[in-house]
Amino acid sequence: MKSLLNRRQFLTTTGAAASAALVGKSLLRPLGVQAATFTRMDVGNLTASSSQIVSYAKAVKAMQMLPASDPRSWSYQAAIHGTIAPCPCGVSWNTCEHGTEFFWSWHRMYLYYFEKIIRRYSGDYGWALPYWNWQLASENKLPPMFRDASSVLYTPNRDPGINAGTSTLASWVTDCSTALGDLAFTDAVEDIQTPHGNVHVTVGGWMASVPTSAQDPIFYLHHSNVDRLWNIWLAQGGGRSDPIADATWKGKTYTFFDENAKQVTMTDCDVVRAAQQLNYGYQGEPTQVNEYCTVKFIIPPWLLQLKLILQLPIPPVEVNSDKVSVPVELGENAQHVSAVANSANQKLFVVLDNIEADNQPDLLYQVYVGLPEGAAADPKSPYYVGTFSLFGMGVHSEMKDRMFMPAKVRFAVKGAVATTLRAKGKLSVTVVPVNPRAAAGKTLEVRTKSTLKIGTISFAEGANTKATQ
Ligand code: C2O
Repeated sequence: MKSLLNRRQFLTTTGAAASAALVGKSLLRPLGVQAATFTRMDVGNLTASSSQIVSYAKAVKAMQMLPASDPRSWSYQAAIHGTIAPCPCGVSWNTCEHGTEFFWSWHRMYLYYFEKIIRRYSGDYGWALPYWNWQLASENKLPPMFRDASSVLYTPNRDPGINAGTSTLASWVTDCSTALGDLAFTDAVEDIQTPHGNVHVTVGGWMASVPTSAQDPIFYLHHSNVDRLWNIWLAQGGGRSDPIADATWKGKTYTFFDENAKQVTMTDCDVVRAAQQLNYGYQGEPTQVNEYCTVKFIIPPWLLQLKLILQLPIPPVEVNSDKVSVPVELGENAQHVSAVANSANQKLFVVLDNIEADNQPDLLYQVYVGLPEGAAADPKSPYYVGTFSLFGMGVHSEMKDRMFMPAKVRFAVKGAVATTLRAKGKLSVTVVPVNPRAAAGKTLEVRTKSTLKIGTISFAEGANTKATQ
């Protein structure tokens, strides 16, 4: 179920939770808050000769030399995430979670054992996986040690501009504000996958597809950052919590291999306290919030429930190399939509669903609502609502033996559309395919590899609902 707290509620509870957290901290600290042994460093503070990088390269090389049947080999580890190798499959191959509420936890477990294997094969027993802090303007290029063609951390299987260091990740590609602003775990874990996928597709090559992405050594630093964002999301308080009472979330068991090639299992409850249970933290992160799986059903006092306003009667929209505008006739819904867009307590969302393509289109898609005809599509414009790409969902050729799942994204619509609506009584939803790898200020040619199809477009409102316990 979709749920969000409304913004006003969010602001008040944040204040309350912040002071409660301060009290709680001073009371609880003597009872034994564990400091983490391993610190995952920001790669932006490291160089090619830093021990973290030297050890990583050493271990990658050693793992690449292991026989493919060894679960600690580079290819086997990558295959646990996903592989194009034909089955019979090895134990745990193709088990990554995308488009589900297990996205954060599965990848956390995956990195945890990967890190142990790197320690073993580098002989560096204090090693911790660095993170690529791609939200920072100072780190919007692929980290330099991964661009050095003589390093084992390099692969030609990336976008050439990314590898040359001429292409940057624009701030609209890496924007995590929607996910970090979400209060419900189910929303945050869904919305974080949008910038996460955008980075994958922008790096390109192996990284652009689930079955090949974990072969690229940068994959793990990308995910280290995604994992850090889970902690950061939680540390904001305001009612944010892991689904520690959700039986489905807690009930799943996943299989990995440790540094001795021993098969091991983990559940979500084993990874809700990174420092305490898994012994690591991130350089510069706020104090970690320790969550404990409970049997009690906990529900935040207020929920912002996503309620459908209208689904547009459209044939599947096909997007190739050019922007596509879908006119929206709101009819009798116009006033209501306009009121929601303008309201301080409610939020208007545009939801694109049943999105699919035969192959990875290698493009990002910017979405605009109410963009006036002839106006330039600029992510700084008030009509811009967000960007998505296909990663982990919606690409038929990547699904192989797994069940196909179309992609779904939703973006909050800004108040600007209310003005357009009042003036014109109608709106448009515009999807703009973009080649994201342009150096700042430049645009690159957009060439389609695969047609993107959007099955449904709808508008929904985040309505204030009192939750029942
Ligand atoms: Cu499982 Cu970033 O991918």
